[in-house]
Amino acid sequence: MRQPLIAGNWKMNGSSQSISELLDGVISGLESKAEVLVCPPAIYIQQVRDILRGTGVKWGLQNVAAETKGAYTGETSPLMAKDLGCEYAIIGHSERRTLYKETDQDVAAKFCCLVDQGITPVLCVGESLEERQRGDTMKVVAAQIDCVIEKAGIERLSDFVIAYEPVWAIGTGLTATPEQAQEVHAAIRGLLSRTSEEVAQKTRILYGGSMKAANAAELVAQPDVDGGLIGGASLVAEDFKAICHAAG
Ligand code: 13P
Repeated sequence: MRQPLIAGNWKMNGSSQSISELLDGVISGLESKAEVLVCPPAIYIQQVRDILRGTGVKWGLQNVAAETKGAYTGETSPLMAKDLGCEYAIIGHSERRTLYKETDQDVAAKFCCLVDQGITPVLCVGESLEERQRGDTMKVVAAQIDCVIEKAGIERLSDFVIAYEPVWAIGTGLTATPEQAQEVHAAIRGLLSRTSEEVAQKTRILYGGSMKAANAAELVAQPDVDGGLIGGASLVAEDFKAICHAAG
């Protein structure tokens, strides 16, 4: 059985004051069978760690360097993330791919560096509206995943998470229907099974894109949807908690 994972991607939002309030709200009365993770801006990781230590809620990065140290001005090392107790890091978010021109190769390099440091990558994949309308959803998603599998090799695939985030659903209020999400998630699992059935069965595949309390339960009820990567709704304690509760 795959334990559901509900992850909050706060993106570039928050202040030290608002983060304390948000986390106090999330912790209080949280009861979920899901693993719960928050990914604040890197500058707040230490504050978040100090608040969350011992609560069971985990913390991670939104992005990471593909190197562990050296002359990479402005970057965050997986080694430093590990030092501050991060168990996960998001990589390949569509905002990074689009706004910062990250390629599949860049994402694959980050994936390998994370795994080598013992941090679990949350690999984001997903198609644009245009690509969906052209019928290219699985072609795009498969290329994003295949590049990582090829570079990482089977030995680095024992612990990672995929987040299927259709670009047209991110921050738009448009959510994929449970059927649309399930179709892509099942196809992703099928893709993984070509490399290893064991990897396919144990890898969690999250849905992301305008997930909220009102639609979380029916999305997570799909057999191949193992949780969610939440943007906007993760910034409101009660909304985020409601999604965690909807996941079990
Ligand atoms: P929204 O939940 O705001 O649509 O964002 C999804 C997302 O990009 C999570 O990584």
